[in-house]
Amino acid sequence: MIPLDGQALARRLNQELARQVPALPRPPGLAVVLVGEDPASRVYVSRKGTVAHRLGFVHRQVDLAADTSLPDLLRVVDALNADPTIDGILVQLPLPAHLDAAAVADRIDPRKDVDGLTATNAGLLVQGRVGHVPCTPLGVMALLAEAGVTLRGARAVVVGRSNIVGRPMAQLLEHADCTVTLAHSRTRDVAALVRSAEIVVAAVGRPEFVAADWIAPGAVVVDVGINRLPDGRLVGDVVGAGLDHAAFVTPVPGGVGPMTIAMLMQNTFRAATA
Ligand code: GUN
Repeated sequence: MIPLDGQALARRLNQELARQVPALPRPPGLAVVLVGEDPASRVYVSRKGTVAHRLGFVHRQVDLAADTSLPDLLRVVDALNADPTIDGILVQLPLPAHLDAAAVADRIDPRKDVDGLTATNAGLLVQGRVGHVPCTPLGVMALLAEAGVTLRGARAVVVGRSNIVGRPMAQLLEHADCTVTLAHSRTRDVAALVRSAEIVVAAVGRPEFVAADWIAPGAVVVDVGINRLPDGRLVGDVVGAGLDHAAFVTPVPGGVGPMTIAMLMQNTFRAATA
């Protein structure tokens, strides 16, 4: 089993991007909006800011109280839409329960929607047309390409159907000529389905949901999950041990996570130069 090192690939891609920034008429601008105090979200948002700064981007973090109203949040999005120094807008998810994530996403100018969450960008992806694609699935595709995994004709199973990972992941794999099955919490005998897969992407948000004996010999395993256990341990959506029979496995942490941030920077750079 070969670990897929997202940390190393992300570092290389970030360095390549940083070299291109000084030649632009102005630096790419990324705004990240954080509503509330979720500790994990705070960590992710601060990492995005650190990388943006390192690349020479303009970076703005907007911190809003957990009880911010929908109209107030939409006003913040409107201001960022109108700001000529900002090319990319990301509203960190999950939002507090009283805020409708779809309504917030759809307020973002699709050209600045570097998360690919507006209905416009989601629709463009379904049709295989050019738009912003969600960062985590993009990062997974880059990791698979780096590892030289053959996608054409491969049987892929994506576990999890979120708008931000599972659905766009299934579409990208299908555009790359995989035969894709999208599994979810209501899928019958998910273990047997995963066993039939040459490529498995786990994005259910449940700690160690995918067992080692679900993985076929020689399969490629991509673990999108980051779950904090009550004892403080960080685990993925796939069990962390017993995967020696797989061809490639992404570690948690250090697999998909850094790639998500690298793709956010790429999307923002692209928005700035479009
Ligand atoms: N929460 C966890 N990952 C992401 C992401 O890629 N984008 C947003 N907006 N929220 C997230």
